[in-house]
Amino acid sequence: MSARREAPGNFDGVARAYRWLEYMTFARALERCRFAFIPALADRRKALIFGDGDGRFTSRLTAAAPGLSADCVDASARMLELLRERAPRARTHLADARDFSPPGAGYDLVATHFFLDCLTTEEVAALAERLNPSLSAQAVWVVSEFSIASGFWAMPSAALVRALYLAFRILTGLRTTRLPDHGAALRAAGWRLSDERRLLGGMLRAEFWRRAA
Ligand SMILES: C[S@@+](CC[C@H](N)C(=O)[O-])C[C@H]1O[C@@H](n2cnc3c(N)ncnc32)[C@H](O)[C@@H]1O
Repeated sequence: MSARREAPGNFDGVARAYRWLEYMTFARALERCRFAFIPALADRRKALIFGDGDGRFTSRLTAAAPGLSADCVDASARMLELLRERAPRARTHLADARDFSPPGAGYDLVATHFFLDCLTTEEVAALAERLNPSLSAQAVWVVSEFSIASGFWAMPSAALVRALYLAFRILTGLRTTRLPDHGAALRAAGWRLSDERRLLGGMLRAEFWRRAA
């Protein structure tokens, strides 16, 4: 018997306001995180982008990588509408990422910005395993995530993460309550962390993962 699975959060109601809510709370810090590795992605040809929301990353990426085709997966129809306005070249898929199988093979980029935190560690692990057959050996995975910092920032960052989950529960019905250990899940699926940037005292991380040898 399989365990009952929660529905994904419903981001339709916050889609239009999302960008402004973000700027009011974090100014441009989340954007700096999302865009941190774009210069290293200009040679990518085929991307799988999960939960990009209103499409700001996809738009920036497709401008930087003119030869790239992108498949964008999101459970919110309104977010996908905004994404298509910003990034008309992208192919969109209204789907739960936990069920999604890529329409083809040879993807050389996976991007997940502030999305894996909507999943549990087990769900991230299952997603990473399911994607493996569709990826090229040169594939890279870029991740942006919140993180519980160490030292002085440990308590503030833990409080911030709790407050964010509470806000998303109220606004979207998201049931997840803690950050997944996405690093362990990616390593188990054959990835290694190749580069990392930390922002806001370590509360935000931009990561660049490669296939392990
Ligand atoms: C917190 S927002 C992040 C948006 C954007 N990536 C960013 O950097 O701010 C999470 C996005 O993932 C989508 N999402 C959440 N759970 C999902 C799931 N299980 N399958 C597909 N999309 C999901 C939401 O609809 C939303 O667009």
